[in-house]
Formats: sequence, C-alpha cells, structure tokens
Amino acid sequence: MDLHFTINRDLCIQCGACVADCPFHIIEMADDLPALNPARVHHCIRCQHCLAVCPTGALSICGSNPEHSMPLPESLPSGRQMTALIRGRRSVRHYLPEPLDPGVIDDMLRTVANAPTGKNKQQCLFTVIDDRETMVRFRRETMEGLRQAVAGKRLSEGLSYFRHVVTAWDQGRDIIFRDAPHLLLVSAPQSVATPDADLLIAMSSFDLLAASMGIGTLWNAMIRWAFSVIETDMYRRLGIPDDHVKGYALLFGRPAVQYHRTVQRDQAQINRVQLA
Ligand SMILES: Cc1cc2nc3c(=O)[nH]c(=O)nc-3n(C[C@H](O)[C@H](O)[C@H](O)COP(=O)(O)O)c2cc1C
Repeated sequence: MDLHFTINRDLCIQCGACVADCPFHIIEMADDLPALNPARVHHCIRCQHCLAVCPTGALSICGSNPEHSMPLPESLPSGRQMTALIRGRRSVRHYLPEPLDPGVIDDMLRTVANAPTGKNKQQCLFTVIDDRETMVRFRRETMEGLRQAVAGKRLSEGLSYFRHVVTAWDQGRDIIFRDAPHLLLVSAPQSVATPDADLLIAMSSFDLLAASMGIGTLWNAMIRWAFSVIETDMYRRLGIPDDHVKGYALLFGRPAVQYHRTVQRDQAQINRVQLA
C-alpha cells in the first residue's frame, strides 16, 4: 500500500505527535524522523490524523499536502455561533424558485464528504437534483406514482393521507416537496461498516452547513413513504444502486421565509448514569 507518506525534514521538529495520534500505530520514530512501520502500514484507514496533528505542517500523506488544509483552531466557529446555528436552523417549507449555483452545491458536498464515516470508509453517495427541469419532472413522476397508488387502493391506513396530498397537488399545493428547487438523498453501500450512521451524519452536516449559509432545508420522510407505495422503483430511477442503504431525502434551496428567533425546546431527556 503506497500512502505517499513524506516528511519535510526542514519543518519536522520530531515532536512525535503523528506517532502518538495515529489510531493504528502505523507511524514510528525511525532514526530522527517519523516513518511508516512496514509491518503495520496495511492497517492505515487514511484518516489523515497525522497530517492534521503535525504542528509545523511537515507531513503529507495520501496525496494530501498540509498547505491545502484549513488552519485550526482559528477557522472554527465559536461555541456561541454553533449554539445559535443548532437552535436557529429551521425546517423550511417555503422556497424561492431561483436555483442555487451548482458550484455552491458541489462545494457544500465536498465539505460534507469530510464528515466522519465508520472506519473512514467515505462511501456515501450524494444523489442530487440541482437542475430545475429534473426537479419538475421528478416531482411530477412522484405525484403520478402516488395518484396510481391511490387509484389502485394500495395505501395502508397509515399512508392514507397521500390521498389528500394528491388532491392538494391537483389544486396547486405541493405538500411533499414544498416547491423546493433541489433535493439531496444520501446513500451508502450495505457492505460498509456503518452505512446508516454515515449517511445520517452526512445529511446532518449538510443541513447545518446549509443553515450557516442562509440556505433552507427540509428533511423529508414523506418522499421515502411515497417511494414505498409507488410501483416504479424511484431509487433506481434516481440512479441509486440497489445495494445501498438509503437515507431520507433533504429538500433545499433559498428560503422564502425568515425566522427571527429560536424556538424553545430545551427539554432534553437525560439519563445521567452514576454507577455505585
Ligand atoms: C427524519 C425527519 C423526517 C422529516 N420529514 C418531514 C416531512 O416529510 N415533511 C415535513 O414537512 N417535515 C418533515 N420533517 C421536519 C420536522 O417536522 C421538523 O424537523 C420538526 O417539526 C421540528 O421543526 P424544525 O426542524 O423547524 O426545528 C422531518 C424531520 C426529520 C428529522
């Protein structure tokens, strides 16, 4: 396994931080510089902790150079800012029609690709609708699929409200998609270590990043439930592989509503453990 591990001799201060922080003890201090331990190198999960922890930016690995990393901790939002973000993000159900620049969406997804995944597998697939025509078509196909499910009496009691959803659609109200210009659906192969967690963490990260950028989102279970009664395999239609665990859809776009204060839902149910 060639990890392209290099140490800049002029910058390395031999502090041993990379050796100490490597979760699989792949790095050792050899002579005067850190080096890979050939007997353990196959354990590497490419987490790049060694690159991140080096105080002088002396270490490159996996083709990543420290000069291309963001400097920390000065780039981090404060606790106050994060508190406001978590408390202040809202489910947006009113959107402006203008689509976001696809470049902005790409940048967001590249950032979200940095979210943690079990064993650092990084196998999340980001299925995105960023163009208007596709969104129009996708909404129409979903609604027509629902209409057929209603007509064919395929709705269980729990999903019978889809009748109302179809009626509302015919009257020009979109209860499922809320006229959002974009959709994100994150999936991950069943075969990876922690697909459910990986994709939810990615979606949550996207959600908070979007809120920090003034972009609205709506987590959407209705789309998933709609897919479960539509005859066409809509996941396949979206190009999502059969062997993927699928997350909920997340609608997003520029909000047509502004919130001026946080809600108040501080009733955390806490089970504080004290073992005798
Ligand atoms: C997994 C999940 C699925 C959701 N599905 C829907 C949905 O299908 N339609 C909808 O309008 N809201 C949906 N919501 C939004 C919740 O109703 C919303 O998060 C909750 O009312 C709290 O409001 P807030 O997000 O503005 O804090 C969903 C939320 C989550 C977390």
